Amino acid sequence: MRARRALLYVPADDWRKLQKATTLGVDCVCLDLEDGVAQNRKEEARRNVVQALRTLDFGRAERWVRINGLESGLAEADLETTLLASPDGIVVPKVLSAEDLRRVAVYLEAAEQRTGRPVGSLMMMVIIERAQAFLHLAEICQATPRLEALIFGAEDLAAELGVRRTREGWELFHARSTLVLHAAAFGLQAIDWVTVDFQDVEWVRQEAERGATLGFTGKQIIHPNQVAPVQAAFTPSAEEIAWARELMAAFTAYQAQGKGAFAWQGQMVDRPVIRRAEGILVRARAAGILAETD
Ligand code: COA
Ligand code: MG
Repeated sequence: MRARRALLYVPADDWRKLQKATTLGVDCVCLDLEDGVAQNRKEEARRNVVQALRTLDFGRAERWVRINGLESGLAEADLETTLLASPDGIVVPKVLSAEDLRRVAVYLEAAEQRTGRPVGSLMMMVIIERAQAFLHLAEICQATPRLEALIFGAEDLAAELGVRRTREGWELFHARSTLVLHAAAFGLQAIDWVTVDFQDVEWVRQEAERGATLGFTGKQIIHPNQVAPVQAAFTPSAEEIAWARELMAAFTAYQAQGKGAFAWQGQMVDRPVIRRAEGILVRARAAGILAETD
């Protein structure tokens, strides 16, 4: 598993922010050509993406490019220009169906052939933010093996549904859980909504904790302030890791005695609890706080 606890959008027409993004220790940087960029700056943004991918050192951060939606008339040129500079993958917004992913995959394969990259190595994430996409979620999840994650797009969805936004966001709760359910069913990561109030660091921390509680594996972010609290919220705590390791040791011992279910620290433990503990250890290893061999 690759840790994608935070996915930082950087408007690609802003070179200063692109440079800044290399210094933040964020898991994923997303060079944005879509809604963070004004209509009359799209070409400059594409040129910057190519320049950034070719010349800036993003360290251990994954480098993603968010293209414009397939209905915008801009996506084709976004792909043609930026894929040759070899990002790690493409974030596709406003998808409606599995067919949209297959259309993008054609460009990815062509770019792999032109640049000599292994076929299948360019990855994809999709933003689920259209009502139609929720109806087609199972097909979308299976459209291409390139797909790594589903991203929840709150604002576009809220506008289309006509819901009133509240601070707690209960009006989008069902849609968020639906996304997590599908991601789990198809082995994908689930990346939660943006918290736009970037000056309130305590609020973004609480929002990230809630996202993690709902089963999201990471969160979209928009400002350097949000990197640390969000990545911390999606990293298992020292107590969780200690709990998981002790439980795994007890499990191994009970298995040797031929016991499936057993009592441990006053609670019943069986296979599902073990799976939860394993999940914590997988995420701790992905975040680099446990060695691969631990
Ligand atoms: N990526 C990288 N660096 C960023 C950044 C981002 N998303 N947002 C801010 N910064 C940098 C600024 O350049 C500034 O750096 P400096 O001190 O070296 O000049 C520093 O962080 C502090 O920024 P601040 O002054 O607090 O914010 P701002 O007023 O410059 O920008 C926003 C505020 C919201 C416009 C900006 O954070 C932003 O553009 N976020 C992304 C928006 C986006 O992509 N939206 C679409 C996806 S939802
Ligand atoms: Mg959107």
